Amino acid sequence: MQIDSLSWFPGHMTKTRRMIAAEIGGMDAVCEIVDARIPLSSRNPDLDELTAGKPRLVVMGHIDQADETLTKRWAAWFRAQGCAAIEVDAKSGTGVKQFAPAVRMLLRDKIAAYEAKGQVGRVLRVMVLGIPNVGKSTFINKVSGRKTAKAEDRPGVTRSKQWVPVDKTLELLDTPGILWPKFDDPAVGVRLAFTGAIRDEVVDVEELAMRLMDYLGTHYPAALEARYKISVAPDEDGWALLEKAGRKRGFLISGGEVDTERMSRILLDEFRAGKLGRFTLEMPPEEG
Ligand code: G4P
Repeated sequence: MQIDSLSWFPGHMTKTRRMIAAEIGGMDAVCEIVDARIPLSSRNPDLDELTAGKPRLVVMGHIDQADETLTKRWAAWFRAQGCAAIEVDAKSGTGVKQFAPAVRMLLRDKIAAYEAKGQVGRVLRVMVLGIPNVGKSTFINKVSGRKTAKAEDRPGVTRSKQWVPVDKTLELLDTPGILWPKFDDPAVGVRLAFTGAIRDEVVDVEELAMRLMDYLGTHYPAALEARYKISVAPDEDGWALLEKAGRKRGFLISGGEVDTERMSRILLDEFRAGKLGRFTLEMPPEEG
């Protein structure tokens, strides 16, 4: 299944690049929000180049929906890449309190240098970046206590940058700029569609659900067995599992065929709502 970036989010890439280039000089650090269920697929691969070696804090969001053990392994992997990393559920606020101390730890040398110049309590400025739907505004609202709507990223809506205070000496730059994931690898688009970051309107829902069944059948068969009361054989393919689950639920159309479209939507909804459990859909690259 091919999902290209144009069908997903057109027209913002150049503007975002320009915005980052214009603002990056005044930043002490960059905060990159990723989805802990798909920590690589939810990243923008050009960020290193765009942010010119600024200290980086990776905020792994959606941990309430991700596999706990793998989240720890991913956090360790990010740290091994030279980034600071924290794990949060931005919706409930779990882990969000780690943010300010993590920024200050990341910038401890810089803070010491500011202090040596007599700039005690100088405000630290952090640019927050993330791909669409990753949870950027939910996180910013939680960490700052802000209640206002997010910086608009829809075409035709006035764009403005917003400074959002976290505390007296830490400010976030929320911008309407959005990054884009790397679509060269088709699996990236599929993972983004699994989590709902790419809307179902631009994908083939049955094919998507079949792929998800394939993945879950291979990596988390017990979760499928428990939720859909079906047996999962080691080599059973996604389509067979989708039909089995649909039949078990009684989703039949005339002639006794399984209504696979209905089952597909149910599977995706239940997966995204966490009803099947907590899953991480990609493994850290070579660790160590
Ligand atoms: P964006 O600014 O990056 O575009 O994303 P936004 O904050 O709007 O978040 C996209 C969706 O992800 C929202 O759900 C939001 O509630 C949810 N979300 C963000 N962070 C987390 C998290 O850590 N855990 C969980 N479980 N969900 C998170 P929505 O369905 O669009 O809206 P709603 O359910 O909040 O009404």
